[in-house]
Amino acid sequence: MRAVGYSVEAAIADLVDNSISASAARIDIKYDASDFPFIAILDNGRGMGPAELTNAMRLGSQDPGNERHPDDLGRFGLGLKTASLSQCRCFTVVSKKSGMISARCWDLDTIERLHEWRVVVPDSEQLASLPLMTKLEQCESGTLVVWQDLDRLVAGARNPQQEMTTKLSPLFEHLALVFHRYSAGEGGNTAIEIYVNSRKVPARDPYLRGNSFRQPLEGQVIRHERGDVLVTPVILPPVSHLNADEIEVAGGRDGLRGTQGFYVYRNRRLVIWGTWFRLVPKDEFYKLTRVQVDIPNSFDDLWALDIKKSAAYPPDAIRARLKDLIPHFAGVSRRTITHPGRKTGPKDFTALWQRIEPTHGAFRYEINSEHPAVKALSSRLTPADQGSLQALLGLVGDSLPFESIYADMSSDTHSSNSAGNLAALVEMAEELMTLTGFDVDQVLQIDPLIRYEHLHSKIKAELTIG
Ligand SMILES: Nc1ncnc2c1ncn2[C@@H]1O[C@H](COP(=O)(O)OP(=O)(O)OP(=O)(O)O)[C@@H](O)[C@H]1O
Ligand SMILES: [Mg+2]
Repeated sequence: MRAVGYSVEAAIADLVDNSISASAARIDIKYDASDFPFIAILDNGRGMGPAELTNAMRLGSQDPGNERHPDDLGRFGLGLKTASLSQCRCFTVVSKKSGMISARCWDLDTIERLHEWRVVVPDSEQLASLPLMTKLEQCESGTLVVWQDLDRLVAGARNPQQEMTTKLSPLFEHLALVFHRYSAGEGGNTAIEIYVNSRKVPARDPYLRGNSFRQPLEGQVIRHERGDVLVTPVILPPVSHLNADEIEVAGGRDGLRGTQGFYVYRNRRLVIWGTWFRLVPKDEFYKLTRVQVDIPNSFDDLWALDIKKSAAYPPDAIRARLKDLIPHFAGVSRRTITHPGRKTGPKDFTALWQRIEPTHGAFRYEINSEHPAVKALSSRLTPADQGSLQALLGLVGDSLPFESIYADMSSDTHSSNSAGNLAALVEMAEELMTLTGFDVDQVLQIDPLIRYEHLHSKIKAELTIG
């Protein structure tokens, strides 16, 4: 049972599930890798009375077949025990409800010695020595779980303290992502505050909702006899419109390409993410696509949901329907990558570069001779020079270094063109005015300046002063 295969961050997240199900508004996680290492999780949820706590310590404290409240993150009646014992040999649960404090402890040494599953009731002295105990006493109600004797966490390590610190390093980001909809207080719910060693865990929104270049697509509802599954695809802004922080959030260590895909939530709690479930290959063109999938807990027995609640696949019925939806959002992602920088919906403008599909499945890029700047220059040339200009533009298009650009784009590096650089855009506007004879307002409406709508007033101001 100890070898269910929890990572330490997944085990802690399982306890956070319990705290959230108990309507906690604040969760404090504290750990220490010193001489007496521990991990403690305190919440200010509804707490448990003594009989309730005794039952909670049972393996299988609830029948997995029971119908659960739609907001309950639990299912098996196992998590508290399996998650704790996956990391430690001794865990104590102290809970406060109606002014009364109760405590129980599973200690594998005691169990081994007595050859009996006997839960220990710690005395007041033992309780007083527990970390975060005084904080629990100050709460109106709440629950504290303390893991001690962390044998599994440091198993086989030469330097246990260092091992514990290393193993716990992904915890902060894991919680930030997995519970982001709870810590953001989505849908008017109170935002749940999670702290790790007194540092507040932020809500890591994998869809970068704060960035206005994000392209939300129409949501879809998959209707099923068990309930509704909501599918909300999002196309992230092109990499050139992300700041370093946002790239980190969107891609983390794996890069954008690795984190594309479905983000599947069970009751708003992220369960699986960054995968297409092999319905389509991870493709460079999908790298900006994230699809939020919301599945209620009434589907639980249709998943191959394991005790850790980290399933490999959502229910089959849902998977099949998701597959049908993929082509709908793939197209937008492709357009965002090939023509970055436009806000929602294509505008009526003449692009400088044109993507042409001469035959199905083949493509090429050409400089558009209908573009006002090209047209203006061309009109001033002799017919022979016009022909030469066309030939030159044709050459530029034909010799685009696709492989090299593809390699650059895949590595999430920024292109250093004038995107977003005010001085460069002002210069570009001046050049275009000379070239075309247009006024400021007119050149701002042609490609590529039209893509930087948010800078238009600044460009204009610079030009009028200049
Ligand atoms: N922090 C908490 N506050 C209040 N009650 C709790 C808390 N943690 C656990 N409980 C109670 O203990 C029970 C057992 O928890 P446990 O995590 O073992 O199972 P579960 O949450 O019901 O299901 P799962 O195995 O899917 O997590 C819960 O059903 C809940 O009633
Ligand atoms: Mg649980």
